[in-house]
Formats: sequence, C-alpha cells, structure tokens
Amino acid sequence: MIRVLVATDKPFAPIAVDGIRKIVEGAGYELVLLEKYTSQSDFVRAVANVEAVIIRSDKADREVIEAGKNLKIIVRAGAGYDNIDLAAATAHNVVAMNTPGQNSNAVAELAIGMMIYMARNLYNGSSGTELKGKKIGIHAFGNVGFLVGKLAKGFGMEVYAYDPFIPAAEIEKQGVKAVNSADELYSTCQYISLHIPANEKTKKSINFELLSKMPKGATLVNTARKEVIDEEGLMKIFKERSDFKYLSDIEPDCKNDLVAGFSGRFFFTPKKMGAQTAEANINAGIAAAKQIVEFFEKGVTTYKVN
Ligand code: 3PG
Repeated sequence: MIRVLVATDKPFAPIAVDGIRKIVEGAGYELVLLEKYTSQSDFVRAVANVEAVIIRSDKADREVIEAGKNLKIIVRAGAGYDNIDLAAATAHNVVAMNTPGQNSNAVAELAIGMMIYMARNLYNGSSGTELKGKKIGIHAFGNVGFLVGKLAKGFGMEVYAYDPFIPAAEIEKQGVKAVNSADELYSTCQYISLHIPANEKTKKSINFELLSKMPKGATLVNTARKEVIDEEGLMKIFKERSDFKYLSDIEPDCKNDLVAGFSGRFFFTPKKMGAQTAEANINAGIAAAKQIVEFFEKGVTTYKVN
C-alpha cells in the first residue's frame, strides 16, 4: 500500500487535513501525519517507510531524501521549493513538485494587511497615512505579485512591476506599468513588495544600493524569503534614513538590532504566516494530495520542479 506522509512543522488547518485524508484514503492509500515535530530527526525517521511526502516550509534535505528508501515523490504544498534539495531528489529518482498559485491570495492579503498596519503607525493612536495615491512596485509578477497588484489597485494605488521573465506587454495587460529594471522600480516606488524566489541569483540581491534608491517614506514589504535581503545593507539603510520601514513575513536574522534601535519602523510575523489561512491550506494541501494520486495512478508530473 502507498503511504503518504504529511510532515508539517506548521500544521495545516484541521479542515485541510480532513480534505487531504479523504483524497489519500479515497485512493486506497494510507495517510501518516507528522505535525509540529520538534526535531529534524523526527522527519528523517518518519520518511523511512513512505512512498510520498507532503511538506510546507519543512526541509526536505539530503538526509531526509536518503532516509526515504521507498520515496518516489515530494510535494511542496505551496509555491517556493527552496526547502527541497533538488539535486538529492533527482539523484535518488524522487520527483519534486510544488502547487503554484494555490496559496497566493492569502500571501497577497497579508502583504496589503501589513502595509496598512504600518501606514497607520502600528495603530498606536497617532495620525498615519493612506495607501491611496501611493506608488507600489511589485518585484516579480508571478501569482502572488499579480494579486498584490490587483488588491493595491483596489486601494487606489499606482501599480508598477518588474519581472525579467514576463514580457512587459503581459504585465501591462493587467493595468500595471511595466518597468525595465529593478533600479527603475525602486527609484519610482515608495512601496516595494517582494515576490522573488530565493535562489543563488537572488539571495542577498535586495541590497543597500537598491534600497537607497527608494523615494522618501520608503516601505519594503517582504512576503517572499528572508534570504533575498542583504541584511547588512538593510541595517545600513535603517541607520541612514529615518523614513525607511520594513515589513516581513518571517523574522530577519537582524531582528534584535532592529528591536534595539528602530522601534515603530518594522513589523515581523513570528512565524511565516502568509499562507496560513484555512482557504490556502485547503487549496494547497488538497492540490498536493491530488498531484500525488495522479502521479501514482497516471504518471502525471505537471508541476515537477526537478
Ligand atoms: C510558499 O512558498 O508557498 C509560502 O512561502 C508559504 O509557506 P508555508 O506553507 O510554510 O506557509
């Protein structure tokens, strides 16, 4: 019998787990749940006897993949797959997939929610500002970037985007102004919302030089990955510009320095919360379960990333 492990340090909503169970058991497979595990060795142990794994930001590293002697497929219920060792997966004939688009709306809503929270001075009772009429630059116009742009337009913002992989005409079709470079985006927009993946090219790419181009009243919104930020550069800009603010869906490594010297100018979620809604959990979890069943029953590999 095929066994499907759901390994989630940050569990799905119970209703999403019920949905996953229905699909897995409906196919005649067994569901194994490993939630809120305290050490990576628990994951390594649990993977030993299963054919398939569903994860979120959990680390499917080389050790996990090598421990999965029967493992055929890992599905990241979500967009970013920087937490899967793709080379190890490929070397062991394990198919890796993601579920693009399934949790995007939740992430986009969080980006806008954090922007409003900061624009109103963290609701501290003082007069804040509005999003209406401000310029927002979407850095990478994928599923989440597109939705942030759509929501931002609803708030009356002027929306710009830069994405080297999407033709300008496609971006402009959505009523968004396409710019030709990251430099141009950062020089133009008071708000920047990051939607780039974390990879060898993008890690630490959001640096002092780029951030210092942002106009007065700059707010950087990061619902992507903390690794894309050059935190030394971030600290430098915080010291040089009292108008600079940072919102991040996950605590940066420089958290203590920011807490010590720059209160009121940042907000971090304690855990990655972007995709943490019942709807996103249901969409991504169920998509992952269906992709596993289709893979075993029909050999479908549509969202394979390795
Ligand atoms: C993603 O890449 O899909 C998001 O970062 C969500 O991650 P999570 O499933 O750990 O919340």
